[in-house]
Amino acid sequence: MAPERKVALITGTNSNLGMNIAYRLIESELDDTRLTIIVTSRTLPRVREVVDNIKEYAGKLKRSGIVDFDYLLVDFTDMVSVLNAAYELNKRYTKLDYFFANSAQGVFDGIDWIGACKELCSNPVKGATDPHYKIQRVGVKTRDGMGLVFQCNVFGPFYLIKKIQPLLEAAKGRIVWVSSIMSDPKYLSFDDLQLLKSDASYEGSKREIDLLHMATYNYFKQRGITQYLIQPGIFTSFSYFKFLNFFTYYGMLFIFYLARYLGSPWVNISGYTAANAAVYAAKLANPNFEKQDLKYGSACYKDGSEYIKLQEVDGTGAEELLKYLSKLKLEWDEKLKDQITNSRQND
Ligand SMILES: NC(=O)c1ccc[n+]([C@@H]2O[C@H](COP(=O)([O-])OP(=O)(O)OC[C@H]3O[C@@H](n4cnc5c(N)ncnc54)[C@H](OP(=O)(O)O)[C@@H]3O)[C@@H](O)[C@H]2O)c1
Repeated sequence: MAPERKVALITGTNSNLGMNIAYRLIESELDDTRLTIIVTSRTLPRVREVVDNIKEYAGKLKRSGIVDFDYLLVDFTDMVSVLNAAYELNKRYTKLDYFFANSAQGVFDGIDWIGACKELCSNPVKGATDPHYKIQRVGVKTRDGMGLVFQCNVFGPFYLIKKIQPLLEAAKGRIVWVSSIMSDPKYLSFDDLQLLKSDASYEGSKREIDLLHMATYNYFKQRGITQYLIQPGIFTSFSYFKFLNFFTYYGMLFIFYLARYLGSPWVNISGYTAANAAVYAAKLANPNFEKQDLKYGSACYKDGSEYIKLQEVDGTGAEELLKYLSKLKLEWDEKLKDQITNSRQND
């Protein structure tokens, strides 16, 4: 008998979190399941790199089940690329079991080192878990004319999910949105939903993800799709390495361990621990018992051992955001209507 097949798509698979989601997902699937991981990236070399890494990891496990790979080149800051990704998925697959909305981009311009020293010395826990010393550019737009961080982190993935909804419905699949502990409501102004005036657009986009989840999980539930919101805590990010040298990298690690020692449950440091909540939500959380209007966080004790910690989500403004995104989706459907004709597209 052919093994049961499950198909998982992880956006931004080559990130520390994305790769560890793949590792943990492989570990959690039964031996008689064939798991297909759809790796996404903007570039082919990064696809190759991540597939090699995941294969190497899977090879060391005792699991005998098949793991195979497919890839998708997608850039969420380019709507034609997003539409093309949807077209390819609908063409290649009849169902999708897991969609991890993990990729993200910020318009970071460096670190305010004086501000960092002040914040970290006065309160290492707050400095490590709620930093305000990362400099972000303001008003950056994509070639599509949208706020770059908004399009990349929120609208692009939302548009893709809507276009592949039939695949998720066919599998009774799961969507896992990766948010952050930095998604405080103060970072989002409803006069600036594309985050063009904000100097904290990254945090604002994570707040939008929280609200988008709150506005849509019931809609998806009625269609057999289970959606969860997670946050991975704090861990080492590959994309931040370019701002660090030998000394500042180890300085950062020292602060992380100090913050954890002083009692922060969120300083996971390891990407593997950070991926706990994402795979918990995908595999274990039971929608009949486990609430969907919460955020599932990857947390750890002082010794680094992991657990899941739940957080309330303030849903104020969720419907307003959804209305805005739905209207924008219709506008882009119209703009893109001559790009690709796809009979399986969802409304
Ligand atoms: N690091 C932390 O402490 C932390 C804390 C809270 C939340 N998070 C969240 O956890 C997730 C992963 O974080 P990370 O630090 O591991 O990631 P990262 O190193 O910042 O990597 C981001 C990933 O997103 C992809 N990506 C970036 N721009 C894209 C675009 N325009 N279109 C498509 N894909 C794009 C990149 O793929 P390619 O370069 O291969 O195209 C890359 O794999 C993110 O959602 C992040 O916001 C991280």
